[in-house]
Amino acid sequence: MDGDLARLRGIDGIKWRKYGPDVLPAWVADMDFDTAPPIKEAISAMVERGDLGYNAVPGDALVPAWADWQERYHHWRPVEEQCRAFTGALHALETVLMLHTRPGDGVVLFSPIYPPFRTAIEHSGRQVVDVALEGPDWRLDPERIEAALDARTRLVLFCQPHNPLGRVFDHGEIEALAAIAERHDLLVVSDEIWGDLTHDGHRHLPIVSVDARLAERTVTIGAASKTFSVAGLRCAVAHVGPPALRDALAALPSHAIGAPSTISAAATVAAWRSGHEWLAEVKAILTANRDRVLERVARGELPGVAMHRPQATYLAWLDFTATAFANDPGTALLAQARVALDLGPRFGPQAQAFARLNFATTPVILDEILDRIGAALRTG
Ligand SMILES: Cc1ncc(COP(=O)(O)O)c(C=O)c1O
Repeated sequence: MDGDLARLRGIDGIKWRKYGPDVLPAWVADMDFDTAPPIKEAISAMVERGDLGYNAVPGDALVPAWADWQERYHHWRPVEEQCRAFTGALHALETVLMLHTRPGDGVVLFSPIYPPFRTAIEHSGRQVVDVALEGPDWRLDPERIEAALDARTRLVLFCQPHNPLGRVFDHGEIEALAAIAERHDLLVVSDEIWGDLTHDGHRHLPIVSVDARLAERTVTIGAASKTFSVAGLRCAVAHVGPPALRDALAALPSHAIGAPSTISAAATVAAWRSGHEWLAEVKAILTANRDRVLERVARGELPGVAMHRPQATYLAWLDFTATAFANDPGTALLAQARVALDLGPRFGPQAQAFARLNFATTPVILDEILDRIGAALRTG
């Protein structure tokens, strides 16, 4: 652990910087693995060439690289002319939110949910239409969705695969969502930036590839940010299905939205063109780590904690209801175990007894994190 820890403690990333040196971080969604060599090489080559002026090459290569990647891994080819670049997944999501809705409009999310989905709605004066998902299966319930909608509901913020639950929604669930979206004339923003990180042969389904009714009412967001842990580079792409939305984007002043830097585009293209080997290795580690967490929870080594098996992501959604830490376990564990998980209550009103564990680290660090949580639970 010492070698890895020395490197990780030496980087500026917020994951390792936010808390003191006695805390092991398992919160924000960055991975602890060294960057993929093709990404490092792409960035170094630009710097070495002194090639940091205006440069259209990386930006022009971005969408074709994404289209090829999607087709190869997810059997869906975005229409390149309908895609555009953004500086992050939330940048794309909030831009669409602002263009398609007005203050007071209803926007659906499926909670527990990655907190910025909720704050995007609240901070822009839109209304959160919170459709709660329930364990142990965390499946979409069409009746519950339908019951939550009213005449002011305009948009659905979807997360496929879902953060923090790690669900890959299946054909039946997506078809039900498509039927509802059509019936109520809803736009769907499908944030699919976790799509590459599936386990056990679970297949990520881009929602537009499942149901034709979604084609012209969906914006699909993709990125290399989670897959390759390069969120700091600030680059994402979106496939904008609805023609009216493409027109609205095109009508904005040309610099209003901004674009990824040439370095971030070049690094992202390198990831999508040459990152296959690195990704295969990392996915094997992530699945082994997921199984390690499941196994240790099943053995009772985190007394009272329950969890379901994530089908994707490197996030474990831990249920502390049956423990002494049932009220905001993340806060208690930071104080008592010196591990930093993401706090459940940030993900939704029903998540008070939960915490999100990021297991994208070395097996040794992961074991130490689980040991510390187990010890704190035993002491109470
Ligand atoms: C589902 C989801 N969307 C968006 C983001 C943030 O992406 P970005 O930093 O590109 O805005 C994250 C980060 O963890 C995420 O999990």
